[in-house]
Amino acid sequence: MARLLGIDVGTSGTKAVLIDETGAVLAQASAEYPISTPRPLWSEQDPEDWWRGVESCLRQIGQPDVDAVGLSGQMHGSVFLDERDRVIRPAILWNDQRTAEECADIDRIVGRDRVREITGNPPVTGFQAPKILWLRKHEPEAFQRVRSILLPKDYVRFRLTGEKFTEVSDASGVGLFDVPGRRWSDEMLAALDLDPSLFPPAVESYEAPSKTLAGGCLSAGIPVAGGGGDQAAGAVGTGAVAPGVVSASLGTSGVVFSALAEPNRDPDGTAQMFCHANGAWHAMGVVLSCGGALRWYRDTLGAGASYDDLAREAAEAPPGAEGATFLPYLTGERCPYQDPLAKAAFAGLTLAHSRRHLSRAVFEGVSFALLDCMNLLRKLGAEADEVRVTGGGAKSAFWLGLLADLFQRPCVTLEHDEGPAYGAAILGGVAIGVWPSVREACARVVRLKGRIEPSGAEYSRAYERYRRLYAESAPWMHGA
Ligand code: XUL
Repeated sequence: MARLLGIDVGTSGTKAVLIDETGAVLAQASAEYPISTPRPLWSEQDPEDWWRGVESCLRQIGQPDVDAVGLSGQMHGSVFLDERDRVIRPAILWNDQRTAEECADIDRIVGRDRVREITGNPPVTGFQAPKILWLRKHEPEAFQRVRSILLPKDYVRFRLTGEKFTEVSDASGVGLFDVPGRRWSDEMLAALDLDPSLFPPAVESYEAPSKTLAGGCLSAGIPVAGGGGDQAAGAVGTGAVAPGVVSASLGTSGVVFSALAEPNRDPDGTAQMFCHANGAWHAMGVVLSCGGALRWYRDTLGAGASYDDLAREAAEAPPGAEGATFLPYLTGERCPYQDPLAKAAFAGLTLAHSRRHLSRAVFEGVSFALLDCMNLLRKLGAEADEVRVTGGGAKSAFWLGLLADLFQRPCVTLEHDEGPAYGAAILGGVAIGVWPSVREACARVVRLKGRIEPSGAEYSRAYERYRRLYAESAPWMHGA
């Protein structure tokens, strides 16, 4: 029976999962690393930390003997390499917000409508393209030395295989990719005066363009599949590979996701459209600080409480938290407001409020942000009878119940919720022919587990308050 290894290069750490053809998890490991914020709005990591994370996971699993590897990772990050493939500066991450000016430049140079037609999306501050323009403008000496630019998981692929490749789902988040055509856009590259040789060839997620090197942390010659950006790979793990299945992932970021049969772009550009790992496309709404906002709350105001403690407290306050409202925009926001300068806020507090109200307001705030994303997908016609919820947050029955009430759909959990690494392992299996297609693989291994029905609790006034708070405070945030 084939043994398939999935590796996810996440924001808070690396995770590796070893599965077999039945989908059973044989082993798993994780290793954490830091994130650095050298200036407000900046977010960076050392790619060497990702590699050390991978080595640590593989040591924990015991240098596994495997038939295929699939890679997944945080999307959009920029790894700049020189002519000897040395990392030139820390990687700039998906939640970095320094590039508002460069996004405006892209719209001006390429033309607003044309950018959206080609890439499926507006220029987004977190995407790779504006980061490259930022480097050219602000660190020209570093830019002169750049010979290749990789996404986070593709840097790990390079360390594992010695070869530079990407795949269509992660390449879609660069902002230079022709998403309907599934190839790099010569037009975008030429308009922005970027040399096409900076970017690696893009394969489909379920193809294996390269094999592991000798002398690494795996034995030599193992096929390494294209894999997927964490959202596409995560969706493979939940079975969101055909229209009619909607998933919500609750990680550092929060994402509501639906597969698309065709490249069906949101005309307003607020929902994002990318190539999916199944050979088709997907739409998603992305909340930049979801679990990230909860972690911030736990670490700053939580006074030693665990996530479980905070959820228990939150459940003691009534729906709507008696008017206490939290906006979760700690790192700006992407959907539905493309606003790098959006800020987080507590509002509506009185002496009657205690920490349980604040805890409830934080859970409700990030969930309202996810409801905003669900509404974007509904506008595109993506609908489902139930929502498959994954990620760290799916362990909380309280949070699942809250989402079921807001989405007005049952929320279901999955038997294997190892996240994007699990989907990446499946993509490795498809690449070596264990299953004939991604869809078939999901039909064989993805199994549902828990189910929480909506309780009928009423949130319409609280949601309205939340929406108005951003609308009315945005001018202040932009001037702050
Ligand atoms: C997706 C996105 C995040 C990151 C980090 O577009 O920005 O989900 O991939 O997980």
